[in-house]
Amino acid sequence: MTLPPFPGPIDRPRRLRAGGALRSLVREHTLRPADLVLPMFVREGAQENRPVSSMPGVEQHTMDSLVRAATEATERGVGGIMLFGVPETKNAIGSGATADDGILNAALARLRAELGDATVIMADLCLDEFTDHGHCGVLDAAGRVDNDATLVRYREMALAQAEAGAHLLGPSGMMDGQIAAIRDALDGAGHEETALFAYTAKYASAFYGPFREAVDSTLQGDRRTYQQDPANGREALRELALDVAEGADLVMVKPGLPYLDVLAEVAAASPVPVGAYQVSGEYAMIEAAAANGWIDRDRTVLESLLAFRRAGARTVLTYYASEVAGWYRDGLPAHLREFL
Ligand code: PBG
Repeated sequence: MTLPPFPGPIDRPRRLRAGGALRSLVREHTLRPADLVLPMFVREGAQENRPVSSMPGVEQHTMDSLVRAATEATERGVGGIMLFGVPETKNAIGSGATADDGILNAALARLRAELGDATVIMADLCLDEFTDHGHCGVLDAAGRVDNDATLVRYREMALAQAEAGAHLLGPSGMMDGQIAAIRDALDGAGHEETALFAYTAKYASAFYGPFREAVDSTLQGDRRTYQQDPANGREALRELALDVAEGADLVMVKPGLPYLDVLAEVAAASPVPVGAYQVSGEYAMIEAAAANGWIDRDRTVLESLLAFRRAGARTVLTYYASEVAGWYRDGLPAHLREFL
């Protein structure tokens, strides 16, 4: 049966999509290099870089290559660098996290000396890279993560990182009271200006898989007694209220794409700037699909980063930060320009 044309009326949103100039005029969200933070890994005692096989293009740096890559990212205009350390030896309390010459603190000091205030130097504040059991805190006699004993270690770690010159500390261990405990330690030692980027809603996620390779993690089991249950959205708002009340300067939602709903809710409720972390597994998925020719890598990268901005992230932590910032410097190719 042939029908006559629908008589209407028809409202026509397509008018605003008719050409590139119109689309550019009405575009709500944009991406700039300064919106992106680059997570980086530095390995103690390394003589050469080691690629992270599950994250093609990402590597564990030597101190010198860290400085070179961080300098390049800074020149390209990234908003900041989030540094993770891979120590040579680990123990039950993660001593390397608080030693002045521990890899993370030594690398923070080197970066600050080389880069000054040209970019924001951030430090992951967590024990999992430094403990032999791989947990984010210290354990009690029964082998459980001891919240309050861990806070003591976080306070010590915060002082070491602030003294090394980090501008911003990123407590990522999901211990209760961690922001208040760290803020108090910093203020008591004259580090009132060191800011806190709280990992506020951090889920016990399978998407961290490749990261465990990146930091040579020894974790057996999982982090479900301290990281959030992926089934829960509401408790992210409780964590947000606590972190803000305890003194967080920025808050973060992590992982990214699978938790855009949480990001949008946190962004709507937060009085402080919000970040999102596109984690290792998200990166690995894009790389794997692109390597198979199944998706257009560069467009997928920009689309995913833009999605975080649309959902309410002021800043996005992404392993693509330096590369994408380089695209902007060199001028985006035509098919990517819509993301400018
Ligand atoms: C904890 C930490 C993790 C990540 C960032 N900080 C691992 C974890 O919580 O298990 C994951 C980042 C990523 O997957 O890219 N120090």
